[in-house]
Amino acid sequence: MTVQGLPMVVPSEDLPPRVRIHEVGPRDGLQNEQRTVPTEVKAEFIRRLAAAGLTTIEATSFVHPKWVPQLADAEQLYPMVGDLQVALPVLVPNERGLDRALALGARRVAVFASVTESFAKANLNRTVDEALAMFEPVVAHAKDRKLHVRGYLSMCFGDPWEGPVPIHQVVRVSKALMDMGCDELSLGDTIGVATPGHVQDLLSELNEEGVPTSALGVHFHDTYGQALANTLAALQHGVTTVDASAGGLGGCPYAKSATGNLATEDLVWMLQGLGIDTGVDLGRLTATSVWMAAHLDRPSPSRTVRALSHKE
Ligand code: HMG
Ligand code: MG
Repeated sequence: MTVQGLPMVVPSEDLPPRVRIHEVGPRDGLQNEQRTVPTEVKAEFIRRLAAAGLTTIEATSFVHPKWVPQLADAEQLYPMVGDLQVALPVLVPNERGLDRALALGARRVAVFASVTESFAKANLNRTVDEALAMFEPVVAHAKDRKLHVRGYLSMCFGDPWEGPVPIHQVVRVSKALMDMGCDELSLGDTIGVATPGHVQDLLSELNEEGVPTSALGVHFHDTYGQALANTLAALQHGVTTVDASAGGLGGCPYAKSATGNLATEDLVWMLQGLGIDTGVDLGRLTATSVWMAAHLDRPSPSRTVRALSHKE
């Protein structure tokens, strides 16, 4: 039962009162779309997301353009949105990437580790330890400049080549990134195989090993329809930073069946129903995803976008 496209609010006392949504559509979403979106459309997308109330919008990546051609326009895009009064984190794999981001005045950067050897090789052309060694000076220089640094971890639950991923591998890379000086971590279920008990086990283990929940964000993909259940498990554990992608954009180039990230609209619908504040206007956000779907020439996979934009 909905009232004007909003869920009925039934708060739960066990959950955090507020959640910060880390919007990854312009970066994680568009990097995995087959169609490369014009720079002006990307800038308009980011502006519309900010106008819908999102306060952290991952804008682009300063990676090698041959590795991710969809984001090769980072130098053109970033200045087009730099005036927005929202946090605009960018991905930087190495010092070259950090220099490019600093030259444009970026204040928030993210390094992105893999917890499996196969994905480290495929994504960064490095072993896990070589990649960590590559990030060390990046994080040190970024912290010298007082930047906020996020550390991503990919394949935290399963890997397309290696299968289920032991929790100790995630713990090891998490501790390494925290020791380097990362301000927060994002635990990525890159191919979307996690289930809620696994999420709770991983979070508990990280806490026991000294990584506090306040430093942890979650990053779920919805391949097996578990992204919201996994998010709820993380919220019950006290996590208050959740990554999501407007309209459920994206996928994973290494797993053909993997769908995009958890759709921001699906997340907002659940959080609003639970009485959790996000600051997001669901109607404006949905309209933005419908607009972007037209540019990508494919409908949004988000159930909430489909339901709210459905016309009789
Ligand atoms: P490499 O080929 O080993 O690079 O790639 P290299 O260090 O040997 O350098 C080779 C050339 O690249 C050099 O140029 C460098 O200057 C240049 P040359 O001297 O030959 O003319 N180069 C660069 N150019 C521009 N910007 C740079 C840069 N770095 C080197 N930053 C590298 C290593 C890390 C560069 C490459 O593997 C890369 O760019 N990888 C990025 C892959 C990527 O962006 N993947 C997607 C993000 S991760 C993700 O999506 C998962 C996440 O969403 C969480 C989840 O879902 O789980 C975060
Ligand atoms: Mg992702």
